[in-house]
Amino acid sequence: MNPSSPVAHVSCRDGSPLNGTIRVPGDKSISHRALMFAGLAIGTTRIAGLLEGEDVLRTAAAMRALGADVTREGSGMWRVSGAGIGGLHSPEDVLDMGNSGTAARLLCGILASHDIFAVMTGDASLRRRPMRRVIDPLAACGAVFAARDGGRLPLAVSGAADALPLSYRLPVASAQVKSALLLAGLNARGVTEIEEPEPTRDHSENMLRHFGAAVEVIGQGRGKLIRLRGQPELMASDVMVPGDPSSAAFPIVAALLVPGSSVTIEGVGLNPLRTGLVTTLCEMGADIVILNQRAEGGEPVGDLVVRATTLRGVDVPPERAPAMIDEYPILAVACALAMGQSRLRGLGELRVKESDRLAATLAMLRVNGAQVEVDGDDMIIMGGANRLGGGTVMTHMDHRLGMSALVLGLVADDPVTIDDAAFIDTSFPGFVDLMRGLGAVIGPAGGPVEGLA
Ligand code: S3P
Repeated sequence: MNPSSPVAHVSCRDGSPLNGTIRVPGDKSISHRALMFAGLAIGTTRIAGLLEGEDVLRTAAAMRALGADVTREGSGMWRVSGAGIGGLHSPEDVLDMGNSGTAARLLCGILASHDIFAVMTGDASLRRRPMRRVIDPLAACGAVFAARDGGRLPLAVSGAADALPLSYRLPVASAQVKSALLLAGLNARGVTEIEEPEPTRDHSENMLRHFGAAVEVIGQGRGKLIRLRGQPELMASDVMVPGDPSSAAFPIVAALLVPGSSVTIEGVGLNPLRTGLVTTLCEMGADIVILNQRAEGGEPVGDLVVRATTLRGVDVPPERAPAMIDEYPILAVACALAMGQSRLRGLGELRVKESDRLAATLAMLRVNGAQVEVDGDDMIIMGGANRLGGGTVMTHMDHRLGMSALVLGLVADDPVTIDDAAFIDTSFPGFVDLMRGLGAVIGPAGGPVEGLA
């Protein structure tokens, strides 16, 4: 990916429905974790279905630079021979985490409790994002962090030679912060305790168990205490990565909105801490049927059959935000096409994503004619504008903004253009081709768009 040469794309409505059966790429959160936990385990882990997007490739490169043996064996098939907990070494060069907040923050956890010196940086989007939320609590294990501008990348870390266990109450609902502390706790003597007032995705807890660590979760639903005994023997254990529900979100909403569509998405991860979008769309009246529910690699998975539906406005409570935190831009598109008003509550965390997603989503909809407002941390969208589309959306190096805007173009009255499609590869390589395979009209802007009359 070369951020200096943006690739503008345009999407258009052509009247024909979307049809077909697809799979979306592997789950981004699980892919990062699989590489990290396997890199800390003893023995050889085989990973199937790994997301080969830019973000995850940064994690693979970083784990390799720290001493794990990470090899690609085929499409989505990776082999990792771990260095063992405490066995990683200082990288020879700066770790460049590209666009990935998850890679950067989780890696801080690993580095904090290893006797390692490392420097980490990222692209312009990642260098703007707050790192204090991880480096402040991680410092309590004995690591010393120095970061630019009060907590931004680049940062340098001298990890603790003999890390202390952590005890911390999460002030924000963030699986990244929780996971960073758990990763640090792996190489601390004693029990790391994390209090989680709002439940967030639990892939780290699941994967720790999968690799043989003793993780105790006390409390059900809201308000959990997570306890991890440090310095376990993590044993290599093969991982099958399910399809990413955050990526499935784009064809799901497209199929709901384009009249006459029927799309099946196979093998989608259905961890209940990730399914807030499906819950919300069903409240809007969506026709989504889940078939073949099963467990794969310790995570629930199913096939989703999605048929076009007239949606109505919705009021989404703030406590649902962690279960659909990455899905608000595409939900906002669905709301702009729904009948009536929608209110999406408690979206403060969107301000510190790959872009300020609250501002960027507002701008995406407004430039395309939708009526939308931000009221504190809530977004209010009036559905059913007279005429939608015709705008150029600034994606601010944010893959999810790009894909959301292209889905909007498939149903808007006039084409929608995005300034740069290159960042889509961070989470969803092949997105444009996959959507075109379903019948969508999307292509590079500035030339003839295949399929467009
Ligand atoms: C992620 C957690 C979420 C999410 C991100 C992936 C993870 O971030 O937005 O895309 O893999 O843990 P926060 O934990 O900061 O909410």
